[in-house]
Amino acid sequence: DWTAESFVEQTVNHLRQKLGNDRVVMALSGGVDSTVAATLVHQAIGSNLYCIFVDNGLLRKDEFEEVLLSYQDMGLNIKGVDSKSHFYKSLAGISEPEAKRKAIGKSFIDIFDQEAHLIEEVKWLGQGTIYPDVIESVSIKGPSATIKSHHNVGGLPDFMKLKIVEPLNTLFKDEVRSVGRTLGIDEKILGRHPFPGPGLAIRILGEITPEKVSILQEVDAIFIGGLRKWNLYKDVWQAGVMLLPVQSVGVMGDERTYESVVALRAVTSVDGMTADWAHLPYEFLAEVSNDIINKVKGVNRVVYDISSKPPATIEWE
Ligand code: XMP
Repeated sequence: DWTAESFVEQTVNHLRQKLGNDRVVMALSGGVDSTVAATLVHQAIGSNLYCIFVDNGLLRKDEFEEVLLSYQDMGLNIKGVDSKSHFYKSLAGISEPEAKRKAIGKSFIDIFDQEAHLIEEVKWLGQGTIYPDVIESVSIKGPSATIKSHHNVGGLPDFMKLKIVEPLNTLFKDEVRSVGRTLGIDEKILGRHPFPGPGLAIRILGEITPEKVSILQEVDAIFIGGLRKWNLYKDVWQAGVMLLPVQSVGVMGDERTYESVVALRAVTSVDGMTADWAHLPYEFLAEVSNDIINKVKGVNRVVYDISSKPPATIEWE
């Protein structure tokens, strides 16, 4: 019978034997999978695990700082890398969703390659790949798969010559969470909604600018904070906000405004393959909408997305 406790014990032993005194590099995302995978490797080899957490400028408000702190609290050998400007530059002028994903994937590889080179004699690349990622032959998800999908781009970065270690590649998501609990990882990380690798870039329709990112971060923080405050966060599988490339007319006092529209998106789902829009209480939506319009400069209209998947996808890009 599979138990999280025995999985942890066996995996840590196995990793210890396999890795010996070798050094391992891993990119962490703040998500469940990479965090649990890193914690297992860390238990096996300690500070020979070098973790890298990249600030791509497309994370949620304050997320980089908060997650970095919790990684440090967990005792991980973690380096935070501020690469915001690198990502923004690579995204400048790009509006097409797949082109955004490509630019982000490439920037991520650039930064990771640069950082991996700073670690002397690193032999392994650790990844938080889970079983569904393995069976999904064409995956577009997460830094790990981003790396894989770039295998055939030609001119492999040096870190691709590393051997791969993937301690979670036999597990499903719920098993990963229970392993995470056994390892004592913070519920705040384990209970997190999924968040796409390209982050807020695919929730800003059209071209990305640092100003738009910061507007969206504020709006998103009010929406997600509201879900937590109203105790609705756990009832929803994923939630986020889209910043639309649309201006609409409003009034503020005696003034006419002409500002952005945001669309709130919250869904219920099992695996993200199909999803229903979450039937959130009107009172909650009213409070969040008022908060957003009163507090976030540049937004004068809030709409709620009531489309299910299929045919609509969860993200808008
Ligand atoms: P869709 O929009 O296809 O999203 O219904 C299904 C799930 O996948 C996430 N998603 C992504 N995750 N890189 C990722 O790591 C991506 O490019 C990407 N696109 C969508 C989305 O957030 C949802 O959880």
